[in-house]
Amino acid sequence: MGMRRKLIAGNWKMNGSVGALGELDAIAAAAADAPGVDVAVAVPATLIELASDRAPALAIGAQDVHDRPSGAHTGCVSAAMVKEVGARFTIVGHSERRADQGETDAQVRAKAEAARAAGLHAILCVGETAAERDAGRAEAVVTAQLAASLPEGASGDWLAIAYEPVWAIGTGRTPTVADVAAMHGALRARLRTLLGDEADALRLLYGGSVNDANAAELLGAGDVDGALVGGASLTAAKFVPIIRAAARL
Ligand code: 13P
Repeated sequence: MGMRRKLIAGNWKMNGSVGALGELDAIAAAAADAPGVDVAVAVPATLIELASDRAPALAIGAQDVHDRPSGAHTGCVSAAMVKEVGARFTIVGHSERRADQGETDAQVRAKAEAARAAGLHAILCVGETAAERDAGRAEAVVTAQLAASLPEGASGDWLAIAYEPVWAIGTGRTPTVADVAAMHGALRARLRTLLGDEADALRLLYGGSVNDANAAELLGAGDVDGALVGGASLTAAKFVPIIRAAARL
């Protein structure tokens, strides 16, 4: 555990505006006050350059990248493009993209590899639906997703995994701490079979309705190395207490 720094990452999704970037000032101040915690914010692509100029001490990132460096892919942006304007990382394989854009494990894997090739870090998301959990298949589904979307060269230097149960995203519902610990333990075990000792270097984030009230408990669960935070990352008032909870662990 000692070698893995806590990572608190925000995901603004399709929210935020130039006017909202002021929130980053207090988030950056809280991050400076929490030297043991890495703080990151994935903003809409249109805000990456302004956000990274405004908060150079924060890791600003993208929420998705294409798997090719350039080409005839109207509407898409590449890893090199977001890096050029200041992104240090990207999320790949978020469940909203897997559902809305039909992204497959193979595409997610290719996107993660493209991110690495461009010099970005990546946060790769996995998670089960409510129906899969109710059927008792959560661990099987999530570890299979991990195995199929894990990129070549996976290492803690550049890759983190986020466990985000689909039914917990934006719902105010979370798994129990025991369920989170069990899933993260299963993910760590699968990483060990895939990567050997390097598995211990990858950070495993929990995501899904993390807020100031539940952050300490969820971040304290076994094998949880941080959080991926949606709604509560949109304002400093809600995000800063989560950073502080991580700093107290
Ligand atoms: P919420 O924190 O809004 O539930 O979103 C979680 C998420 O999807 C982060 O990527």
